[in-house]
Amino acid sequence: MIIATDADMRAFGHALAQDLKPSDWVAINGPLGAGKTVLCAGILSGLGFEGEVASPSYAIVHSYEPPDVLVAVAHVDLYRLDNADELDELGLADERSERITLVEWAERFGSAYVVASHRIDIAPQSDGSRILTVKMDNDDTSN
Ligand SMILES: Nc1ncnc2c1ncn2[C@@H]1O[C@H](COP(=O)(O)OP(=O)(O)OP(=O)(O)O)[C@@H](O)[C@H]1O
Ligand SMILES: [Mg+2]
Repeated sequence: MIIATDADMRAFGHALAQDLKPSDWVAINGPLGAGKTVLCAGILSGLGFEGEVASPSYAIVHSYEPPDVLVAVAHVDLYRLDNADELDELGLADERSERITLVEWAERFGSAYVVASHRIDIAPQSDGSRILTVKMDNDDTSN
């Protein structure tokens, strides 16, 4: 699927949010500046969040809780983690059934570390658009 602008990326995230349920993990990959955080902001807006969504790259995890969102969300960015042990220490798998987890740079330590229900790869194009490849559980197709 082709996403022409950042507004379109946000709108895609907003729509995708309607398909997400607690316990889902969304693994988002793509290079620096690909639009991973814009996508997460769209998802959060689709879950009812009305504020600005900041990148969690320094904090690693930003948590959103009702009533700010309809369903609790952990917004994670693995870019600044040094090793996979730190990933375990974050305890992201705890309370797994109660929240939606969005992970930027999900494949930083290889695809095995983040077991996701949804995988989204973002490939920036020279014209500023993005090609999105979306894979979901029980879905052999992409795009
Ligand atoms: N088609 C597009 N889709 C998404 N973002 C776009 C698009 N065109 C331009 N942009 C811009 O690209 C930037 C994407 O930034 P964003 O922080 O979302 O990237 P990121 O993938 O999260 O980067 P990082 O790896 O640093 O976390 C934003 O400034 C956004 O406005
Ligand atoms: Mg980001």
